[in-house]
Amino acid sequence: MKFIKYEEVINQLSFSEAIQVMKSCFYDYEQGQISQSERRVECLPDGSTQNIFAMMPAYLGSKRFFGAKMITAFPGNRTQGLPSHQGVILLFESTNGYPVAAIDANAVTWIRTAAVSALATDYLAKADAMNLTLIGAGQQASSHLAAIKSVRPLRRVFVYDLDQDRSQAFVAQMRQTYPELKFFHCSTVEAAVCDSEIICTLTSSKEPFLKGEWIAPGTHVNAIGTFTPTTRELTSHLMEGSRIYVDDYGAALRESGDLLLPIQEGVITTDAIKGTLGELVTEKTVGRSSDLEITVFNAVGLAIEDLCCAEYLFQKTGGR
Ligand SMILES: NC(=O)c1ccc[n+]([C@@H]2O[C@H](COP(=O)([O-])OP(=O)(O)OC[C@H]3O[C@@H](n4cnc5c(N)ncnc54)[C@H](O)[C@@H]3O)[C@@H](O)[C@H]2O)c1
Repeated sequence: MKFIKYEEVINQLSFSEAIQVMKSCFYDYEQGQISQSERRVECLPDGSTQNIFAMMPAYLGSKRFFGAKMITAFPGNRTQGLPSHQGVILLFESTNGYPVAAIDANAVTWIRTAAVSALATDYLAKADAMNLTLIGAGQQASSHLAAIKSVRPLRRVFVYDLDQDRSQAFVAQMRQTYPELKFFHCSTVEAAVCDSEIICTLTSSKEPFLKGEWIAPGTHVNAIGTFTPTTRELTSHLMEGSRIYVDDYGAALRESGDLLLPIQEGVITTDAIKGTLGELVTEKTVGRSSDLEITVFNAVGLAIEDLCCAEYLFQKTGGR
């Protein structure tokens, strides 16, 4: 069995490649050529109520591969200098069930999540959007910046994190990496979003913090951080006023508090969901219809994304 470690994943899977892999992935999923089972997400019985173990299986077809991502999310890990997400993707050949590769899941998750957001941004954000906000300056912030920069002509980036030291350090590092961009370290969410056109919420917050009244008409929001029925990042009022898209109807309506909580409150119904990323990619649905609409892409993360990246990496590094 081949092992593809963190550095090799980072070196072999660029953001522009990952966006193309995700485009094919959502196309195939929408056409029914690939499938996934409901993932199992368990809160570990360690008394913390926040440490998660998830098992995410997917099948890419009888002549391709299948397998699963097994991943942990320990939000408190940063205090020990460890990533919040760690795990492995196991890849098997569909023709004979042979296990061909074990791939670092933290690196794949870092890249594929941002690539999916960038793909959604490409379909939903205004064509000339150049101002990006990152709320949450953790691992996903740098990958979202890199991926979204490859689909829109970014000029200004606003950053907010509850941990102000973390967002300051992030901004200092990104100024070195992207001297052509202007970075703003913001001390409130409102200051970070009021001049923006693309907002990514990338936090482990349990309470909604992004309000509709702070956001300019025409803004696109990628809501990525939460994936349990009782946690959310966006207020019901923002959801009510937005054109909403999801990564998958079933997964979103099982797991996304951003959707389920406003539905429970009677503020929106499932009709508020205008489509999936697969429907956008296959042109079964349309994106924004004016430069004034607020669009929201709400993603809980799918096993097909991990397995498609794993297959790509396995083949790119020479296969068996
Ligand atoms: N949807 C998906 O496919 C997907 C994939 C990967 C990660 N995630 C989730 O995205 C989130 C970010 O991932 P990460 O790896 O960057 O995590 P991380 O732990 O590295 O960073 C999270 C950051 O959010 C900040 N934060 C928490 N609450 C906040 C709030 N209310 N306002 C502002 N900042 C706040 C924290 O201080 C931290 O810096 C996590 O919740 C993770 O589980 C989702």
